[in-house]
Amino acid sequence: MNKDIYILGIESSCDETAAAVVKNGREVLSNIIASQVPIHRKYGGVVPEIASRNHIRNVLPVIDEALAKADVPLEKIDAVAVTYGPGLVGALLVGLSAAKALAWAADKPLIGVNHLEGHVFANFLNDADLKPPFLALVVSGGHTALLVVKDYNSFELLGQTRDDAAGEAFDKVARVLCLPYPGGPEVEKLALEGNPLAIDFPRAKLGDNFEFSFSGLKSAVINYLHNKQQAGEDVSRADVAASFQHAIVDALVQKSVHAIKQTGLKEIVLAGGVSANKTLQETLAKAAERAGARLVHPTPILCTDNAVMIACRGYFMYVNGEKSPLDLNAVPSLKLG
Ligand code: KG4
Ligand code: ZN
Repeated sequence: MNKDIYILGIESSCDETAAAVVKNGREVLSNIIASQVPIHRKYGGVVPEIASRNHIRNVLPVIDEALAKADVPLEKIDAVAVTYGPGLVGALLVGLSAAKALAWAADKPLIGVNHLEGHVFANFLNDADLKPPFLALVVSGGHTALLVVKDYNSFELLGQTRDDAAGEAFDKVARVLCLPYPGGPEVEKLALEGNPLAIDFPRAKLGDNFEFSFSGLKSAVINYLHNKQQAGEDVSRADVAASFQHAIVDALVQKSVHAIKQTGLKEIVLAGGVSANKTLQETLAKAAERAGARLVHPTPILCTDNAVMIACRGYFMYVNGEKSPLDLNAVPSLKLG
């Protein structure tokens, strides 16, 4: 009988301090997240220095809680998986230092995980049948990309955004609509009350490739609000939110369908914070089905930052014999693919 493998995952790339224990790559034994959202909300976004300080405060209690909740002592852990990029350097260093110290003290292998690959792997926790090869649409606060997951440890980047990420566009539009941070869920909520066809915001024309661009859309929303204000006209904020969301989802879905058709792959997964967006999930599911593919997306708690996805990604690296040296450094601009 094969031995069970327990991975401790640690995540601290932005404003969530998280730790989790995952058994055999797919069974979640614990998922602890200390969110700093209420702290950063009053500044309208994440303040890196404040994030680092709160990670320092939270990281050990969160790890202790993850091990206790899983009822797995540190000695029983097979490897410590930790996000080493991309993200805020000061924030990354807190989780990474804790992981290195634990790995050294307990004599366990250290596995440095790419946060974005972690987001993709969150899908394995929600769908027992999911196996590579498949497509991934990565839509987080800092990244927007289409990726082919060829195998558990082999990825090919098809294309990415030329400017703003989808999450960034949601957050910036939220700010001009006077909605609190993080903006994505707030825009989604307000959009429920609006008409998605009320305003025809532009979609970037980028040609026959897998690239995205959202800065023009963001500027169009800002200009629309500015012009209305100058003219003294009333604005339906709900219509703006719904029409913006419609335009961004439209662009994401169009390129995803293009990728499904070009690659002939039969499954596409959503990854990153914006994958929590119900309109994106529903629109992409329908469009993928029409193109002959199936959409998989993570459960809501695994859409945004967590350590389960890091432990899951770490598991597949562990069984592939990959481990990191104890002098592993944080890589704030670590790339995908
Ligand atoms: O993956 P994530 O939690 O952190 C990064 O790795 O960046 O993504 C955060 C981003 C934020 O921009 C947030 O506004 C966006 O995901 N987001 C959403 C939703 N939930 C989170 N965007 C649209 N709709 C949502 N429901
Ligand atoms: Zn993330």
